[in-house]
Amino acid sequence: MEKISRTKIVDLLKRDDFGAKVNVKGWVRTRRGSKQVNFIALNDGSTINNVQIVVDLASFDEEMLKQITTGACLSVNGEMVESVGSGQKVEVQAREIEVLGICDNTYPLQKKGHSMEFLREIAHLRPRTNTFGAVFRIRHHMAIAIHKFFHEKGFYYFHTPIITASDAEGAGQMFQVTTLDMGHLEKTEEGAVKYDDDFFGKQASLTVSGQLEGELAATALGAIYTFGPTFRAENSNTPRHLAEFWMIEPEVAFNDITDNMDLAEEFIKYCVQWALDNCADDVKFLNDMFDKGLVERLQGVLKDDFVRLSYTEGIKILEDAVANGHKFEFPVYWGADLASEHERYLVEVHFKRPVILTDYPREIKAFYMKQNEDGKTVRAMDVLFPKIGEIIGGSEREADYQKLQARIKEMDIPMKDMWWYLDTRKFGTCPHSGFGLGFERLLLFVTGMANIRDVIPFPRTPRNAEF
Ligand code: 4AD
Ligand code: MG
Repeated sequence: MEKISRTKIVDLLKRDDFGAKVNVKGWVRTRRGSKQVNFIALNDGSTINNVQIVVDLASFDEEMLKQITTGACLSVNGEMVESVGSGQKVEVQAREIEVLGICDNTYPLQKKGHSMEFLREIAHLRPRTNTFGAVFRIRHHMAIAIHKFFHEKGFYYFHTPIITASDAEGAGQMFQVTTLDMGHLEKTEEGAVKYDDDFFGKQASLTVSGQLEGELAATALGAIYTFGPTFRAENSNTPRHLAEFWMIEPEVAFNDITDNMDLAEEFIKYCVQWALDNCADDVKFLNDMFDKGLVERLQGVLKDDFVRLSYTEGIKILEDAVANGHKFEFPVYWGADLASEHERYLVEVHFKRPVILTDYPREIKAFYMKQNEDGKTVRAMDVLFPKIGEIIGGSEREADYQKLQARIKEMDIPMKDMWWYLDTRKFGTCPHSGFGLGFERLLLFVTGMANIRDVIPFPRTPRNAEF
């Protein structure tokens, strides 16, 4: 075969130098046609769009043609010609075809319209579908948008550890990391595990958040963000929870809760705008295929200011809804942790736009949040989104050494794990704030997908770690 340098399909479809000799490589999506001429839809992952390859059967070897089945990988040399029927401006008249990889007839993606559940069982192949191609291209673009946003604002990307001996959220839903032999665990006389013999000489886990180390960095570099994998062993089988997810955590010295809310709102709007500007084909495909309201919902979020409201006011609205006959599955009262049905009621029914809820009861929030004067609430903020519920959780941090130490004691958090964190409050403490955005929650919103398992390539959930 003549050596012609490869053109990606995304670039080819934008060209108009008809007659040019080109090479394209990709996987066969469909093949149809007559006894004389066949049309192959070829996709190389660079765009949702296929290029149509026109094949005059008489000019090619019959045995080779037999190998061109759905899923096979081809290299095609040919001429770029103007297309009338393919839905694209450009198609390729094939001159030479090489089958780089035949596709066994057990290929599970023969026809369209597989269920999301089935595609999860073949997660190793689902990126080859239109839907997952679109989702994973958008996932890439969102990651780039996030780095761009913070970099341009002068934030430093700071790498916090994945293995940790502290429980940042104090929730205790951690995966343990150990090299001890589980089959022959040696115990002390009191029956405790001898962590002294373990790899780190103490009990270690996968991190649930990079925040605490992020605070160390913010009180030195001024403004930082983390962007990395996060692990939670919560046994919640919902469409919004993963055991392994990615989180973005900015942390900023001298920001108070209002600055923190401003940053969160600007950040999310930037990401949504980025998706509309840079992923238009993929977003439109998902809109037309699954969720006719997607583009409108994305534009809607950009249009309005987010509502800012205290938890206490939020509870009043929910209590009024209950009094007027609205039924929630979980009870509503001051002090209750909000369920996603409550959050979505505020956003979708009551305000019809995103809501930032602040000043939650201290009992339902983490130890590090700044304590309010009232002695009952802390300076927390959750950003609540349509279809999702909580997309961001954050707060202004308790900067006062005494108050923070008292709260750590009160909540029985082992001080031996926290000494380094408390040092920030001893050595030049400063007001500071930050938050965490769940990357897959953002992707749920931007793609309109209904289940968080479908916006991460290989989801980890209870009883599921295949691939
Ligand atoms: O509200 P969370 O637990 O907050 C923190 O971890 C803080 N340390 C953040 C900070 O202030 N730096 O989690 C933050 C966000 C949630 O709002 C949600 O979007 C996402 O992380 N999240 C999950 N996403 C997927 N699966 C899970 N199991 C998640 N748990 C939290
Ligand atoms: Mg939270």
